[in-house]
Amino acid sequence: MTFDLVLVGFGNVARRFVALLKERRAVLEREHALQARVIAVATRRHGHAFWPGGLDAVSLARRIERGKSIGSDAVSGSSRTGSLSSLEMLRRVVARSGAAARRRRLVVVETTTLDIARGEPATRHIRAALAGGAHVITANKGPVAFAYRSLARAADRAGRRFLFEGTVMDGIPVFNLVRETLPTVNVIGFRGVVNSTTNYILTAMEQGQGFDEALARMQAVGIAEADASLDVDGWDAAAKTAALANVLLGASLTPRTVERRGISAETGRQAIAARAAGRRLKLVARAVREGRRITARVAPEELPADDLLAGLEGQQNALILQTDLLEEFAIVQRSGSLTETAYALLSDLVTIARDVRTAGASRRSRPRAPGRRSL
Ligand SMILES: NC(=O)c1ccc[n+]([C@@H]2O[C@H](COP(=O)([O-])OP(=O)(O)OC[C@H]3O[C@@H](n4cnc5c(N)ncnc54)[C@H](OP(=O)(O)O)[C@@H]3O)[C@@H](O)[C@H]2O)c1
Repeated sequence: MTFDLVLVGFGNVARRFVALLKERRAVLEREHALQARVIAVATRRHGHAFWPGGLDAVSLARRIERGKSIGSDAVSGSSRTGSLSSLEMLRRVVARSGAAARRRRLVVVETTTLDIARGEPATRHIRAALAGGAHVITANKGPVAFAYRSLARAADRAGRRFLFEGTVMDGIPVFNLVRETLPTVNVIGFRGVVNSTTNYILTAMEQGQGFDEALARMQAVGIAEADASLDVDGWDAAAKTAALANVLLGASLTPRTVERRGISAETGRQAIAARAAGRRLKLVARAVREGRRITARVAPEELPADDLLAGLEGQQNALILQTDLLEEFAIVQRSGSLTETAYALLSDLVTIARDVRTAGASRRSRPRAPGRRSL
């Protein structure tokens, strides 16, 4: 079963995703009967490319890494799309992919930059994709943090999937885990360390590094957001908290309605003092449902040494879920990399392929309408 992929955003995550698709091609075919070809790529400053027969996405990624544009006739096999906005480009590509969309084999992969003010244009991209009959996968927290309910409703109405495992803790299952393995369990709250950059900075400062040096390291490896203030000021963690609360607790939060404090060089000094006193300072994200009210907060917290969150080093993340039937349990991410985020996109794609196959099988096994004779 071949899926056509439209990549909106072709930065660190999407480029690692296309490399991973290639690396895992054999196992995807063998174990999931899944083939995927990239038919379009849209970026903000590096041009767009569209070729219905499939592009060589790995070569396009190399071009971008060399600082070149992909929306050029010089790129073999791609058609020039000029200065179209990514939204217009997406609409046209989806409209021209009607056959794949009707067969539920069109997937838009949204990995544009996080917009902390409104979650745009990612939310518009996703609405347009669903309206055109595509499934959507995203690693961009904005749409889930700002518009989860309406996007989930739009996906339901369209009979398509809207999946976003990569938005929190990269490829470590959080949303999948709750959706697929916890029937009837209610999540009533959570607390966690969900931003790798700030945990790395706090740990590095405890070990004597400077704030700027530690932040520069996270930027160099592509883990920090394009605008690093989103990490250090706590916005990224607030967006993840809103996303988690919206999906797991049924809240209607946005990053702005999450109470928020980030970290600074001064917080680093507090982390050193806490460590000397046998405690750890961590940027903790938490939300809880009390009756009909859901409150959420991101702030540095001093934790006792035996707290699970206190043991997190470097880029490690963890999320402790409080539930009604299973009480508390934790999901721990001991390393974080682009590969893990790219894997989240891959695992969402496999979920969609599984769905499409199951739907096809159930159509085939449905009894024929009375009166119809088999030939
Ligand atoms: N990096 C991580 O480890 C990580 C982990 C989890 C989640 N995420 C999320 O995943 C998303 C992508 O992250 P990244 O590290 O790949 O970011 P990135 O390297 O900055 O890439 C962003 C991509 O989006 C494109 N873009 C931005 N605005 C656009 C628009 N309006 N229309 C079309 N394309 C647009 C950029 O194009 P130009 O390059 O031409 O500007 C670039 O190709 C972000 O939302 C981020 O929060 C990242």
